[in-house]
Amino acid sequence: MKSFAVKIKKVKSIIFSTVFLCSSIHLVAQTLAPVPPMGWMSWNFFAENINENDIREIADAMVNTGMKDAGYRYIFIDDAWQGGRDNKNNIIADPRKFPSGIKALADYVHGKGLKLGIYSDAAQLTCGGYTASFEFEKQDAGTFASWGIDYLKYDYCGAPEDSTTAKLRYKTMADALRNSGREIVFGICEWGQRYPWLWASSAGGQLWRMSGDIRDKWKNISVNEVAVFQGGYGILDMIDDNAVLSNYARPGRWNDMDMLIAGLYGKKGPSGDLGGIGCTETQYQTQMSMWCMMASPLAASNDIRNMNEATKRILLNKDVIAIDQDVLGKQAELKIKSDSWYVFLKPLSNGDYALSILNKTGSPRNFKINFNDINLQGSYEIYDLWAHVKKGRGNKWQGNVLGHETKVFRLKRSGKN
Ligand code: GLA
Repeated sequence: MKSFAVKIKKVKSIIFSTVFLCSSIHLVAQTLAPVPPMGWMSWNFFAENINENDIREIADAMVNTGMKDAGYRYIFIDDAWQGGRDNKNNIIADPRKFPSGIKALADYVHGKGLKLGIYSDAAQLTCGGYTASFEFEKQDAGTFASWGIDYLKYDYCGAPEDSTTAKLRYKTMADALRNSGREIVFGICEWGQRYPWLWASSAGGQLWRMSGDIRDKWKNISVNEVAVFQGGYGILDMIDDNAVLSNYARPGRWNDMDMLIAGLYGKKGPSGDLGGIGCTETQYQTQMSMWCMMASPLAASNDIRNMNEATKRILLNKDVIAIDQDVLGKQAELKIKSDSWYVFLKPLSNGDYALSILNKTGSPRNFKINFNDINLQGSYEIYDLWAHVKKGRGNKWQGNVLGHETKVFRLKRSGKN
């Protein structure tokens, strides 16, 4: 009898600690990334040619261009910062690229009210062939914490393909980060290959890439609509793939659609590969619109020290950014899908809705929508978030949408009819 009672007690305590662990992982996720992280990532513009001077200039530009004011906070250093390990196996930065060390850079970035992200990989070597963290998770997490790192992008090149190993390797690093004594956001980057939306959060990640790397192009099959398979994802491919994942996003759990490409204009480098010939400004605007509708993390990846007005207009649209950063944390749902149109709807924390209308065709078209058709009853004030004008009030919208353009409206309930 006694041993039965002891057993029950044990089971109860296991259940209690599991529930406690799960809810505390969830709480950590929520506090670490309650809204999608925003920043600038080094990969598309600098690729492997990064150094501390450029990163400092980027930090200055984050402030001077108004990006910080608009909500961008993180400088994400991507691959190629590493210089191997010292004689105690501590990971070190390449002394030619970062002669003052990462700690000094973090201090500089923090001094500007910004945060610093860094990159590693769950194998011996990263995608670019640099020193990575497998079997050094605890030590590297401790090093990152001692430098003042706020975010880790953790890649999966060179690691075994099966999902059991992936889950384990990500969890090992997540645990190490959690025990490092510093709050470090954990971005999982295994390109959506093992359905991370199902497990990345319980492994300890706050966001996960849901696809392969974005290229600077509209869509994969391009060249005058002739079916040329180039490989690599364009803007529309990301939207298509993420549209079915809306249920997995919430505060502390984000589907990461990869970097924003506005302002790259077909630049040679990672985003210029695999058909990345560049996009029109209308297409870049669609990317910004849809990444915000879909509550994706936002990582600009152009040279923000030299931005033209069109790029600033896209990256700094605070009305659209507010849709991404809304604390309700819902990812927009696809309500209307046809050969020519995508209509998405995202409920917002104050009871408003964000509505986006994307013209998939290459030419301007008229569109008419009755809000009842997407289950929105009553009358709404309609605010156009790109034109920055009120479009009146009512329960329908009708207008012209350019080829590949996305209109985004904020709808505020204003009456019964
Ligand atoms: C992978 C990632 C990219 C980038 C590179 C760096 O391809 O998906 O985002 O980090 O590695 O080597």
